[in-house]
Amino acid sequence: MSKRMENLPKVLVIGVLVLGAGSIASRMLVTKSDAAAGGVRVIIPARLSAKAQVGKVAFDANCGQCHGANAAGTGNGPPFVHPIYNPGHHPDAAFFQAAHQGVPQHHWNFGDMPAQPQVGDADLDAIVAYVRELQHANGIFYQEHRM
Ligand code: HEC
Repeated sequence: MSKRMENLPKVLVIGVLVLGAGSIASRMLVTKSDAAAGGVRVIIPARLSAKAQVGKVAFDANCGQCHGANAAGTGNGPPFVHPIYNPGHHPDAAFFQAAHQGVPQHHWNFGDMPAQPQVGDADLDAIVAYVRELQHANGIFYQEHRM
């Protein structure tokens, strides 16, 4: 067997690894301009729990102007139907904290999120349920956070 043929399996394994990493990376890469162009594509769950339905109303009234219809994102804020908002990286408490205190710009370049003190904790709890159900319908589940 020629040297090149002996190396073929190695080359294939490396190729598969590179492609795999690339496809994971491309899922992570939602740019501001994608969001501005109407957000990411979201599969809408066939049915929402009663709590998530309450959350949808509160979300649309208080968060949707930036985070978009169905949490798909807009030119003013990121989508939550996105792997970085899985509960391993942004636990439910992050939603309460965001609404209570606002969020300094750090993951994106939309600017800071202003606090939303008009939204009570019961509504925030329902908003989290809504966002998690949207995420689940789009294959986004808990992933351990590693830096
Ligand atoms: C005026 C626009 C705006 C509104 C309204 C808004 N957000 Fe945000 N939000 C942002 C932006 C911009 C970011 C991204 C900040 C960054 O990471 O760069 C953000 C980030 C977040 C994050 C991620 C926080 C983190 O720890 O990284 C959460 C959670 C969040 N928003 C929840 C909400 C909820 C819940 C509402 C409604 C009650 C809401 N937002 C309303 C603009 C907004």
